Amino acid sequence: MRILIIGASGLVGSHVLAEAKARGCEVLGTYRNHPVDDLVRLDLEDPVATRSLLESFRPDWVVHAAGWTWVDGCEKDPARAFRENCEQPEMLAHLCREFGYRFVYFSTTYIFDGTAGPYTEEDKPNPINIYARSKWAAEQKIQAVLEGQALIPRVICVWGRETQQKNFVYQVIKALKEARQMTLPSDQLGNPTWAGDIARWLLGLMNRRESGVWNLAGNLENCTRAEWFCLIRDAARAEQLVPISDSNAYVSLSTAEMKQPALRPLHAGASVRKLGLVFSDAGRYPSELDCIERRLL
Ligand SMILES: NC(=O)c1ccc[n+]([C@@H]2O[C@H](COP(=O)([O-])OP(=O)(O)OC[C@H]3O[C@@H](n4cnc5c(N)ncnc54)[C@H](OP(=O)(O)O)[C@@H]3O)[C@@H](O)[C@H]2O)c1
Repeated sequence: MRILIIGASGLVGSHVLAEAKARGCEVLGTYRNHPVDDLVRLDLEDPVATRSLLESFRPDWVVHAAGWTWVDGCEKDPARAFRENCEQPEMLAHLCREFGYRFVYFSTTYIFDGTAGPYTEEDKPNPINIYARSKWAAEQKIQAVLEGQALIPRVICVWGRETQQKNFVYQVIKALKEARQMTLPSDQLGNPTWAGDIARWLLGLMNRRESGVWNLAGNLENCTRAEWFCLIRDAARAEQLVPISDSNAYVSLSTAEMKQPALRPLHAGASVRKLGLVFSDAGRYPSELDCIERRLL
């Protein structure tokens, strides 16, 4: 398989790149602002450069693992959110249709209103913030362009090694090392998911030439941030990454009390039933945290 990964310097894209290389695929990855060895620069703001890269590389698949993922930032700048999360991937879908390439677009279970999770792939989205509206609009536009043939993984609460070290697992370990108390929402539920598992499941689906929506998520469908914090803390302590102390390392507040700029879907977990029908080892969390150091450093 020949694969172009857009956003290969990011959390999800870098794991997809590593998995594809490990399987012997011919891969080209791109970055925008954070250069990484062996990746080429691409800014989807530039349609000429985008077209030229797709035309010259001639992949079987284009994987879009890019986008503007800062939920509160999107709330303050809807125009940018829709441009980067919806219009740019829609442009890629048009190019894939023209050149005959298959297309992957990473979406999110944040497109639901969070009143009735965990959500299956068939449940009806009802986005409640700008980020989610831009992602749901993109899903619909892309499937319209590609007549339902795009592969759309929905992910949530992703963690793993990343150059920018911004995901929740890094934040917890940093806070524990600094003996700093974290403030966590008590009522936001989701599935902690290792990016390496997402990459493995995705390549498996691509091999099968699957299309449509797939929840790619760990099997803790209703994990609170506090529960996730404790899992990370215990795994990090077991590997002596953080000191053992009795101090109360987090305080829980309701989402309403946290006054985040964007509304959050509270029960936004993903049902992993469909995934489990294809991959017998789907959702190995929390045992995957056994190797937390190897997966982060
Ligand atoms: N992380 C999660 O928990 C989560 C949850 C749900 C859905 N998702 C979805 O999964 C996808 C990947 O998320 P992630 O967490 O891996 O994001 P990330 O770590 O922020 O990485 C984003 C990637 O996109 C690139 N990029 C951003 N804007 C671009 C543009 N205009 N043109 C070209 N490249 C651009 C970035 O390049 P530089 O960094 O080099 O600038 C980076 O490689 C996103 O679509 C996101 O909505 C993620």
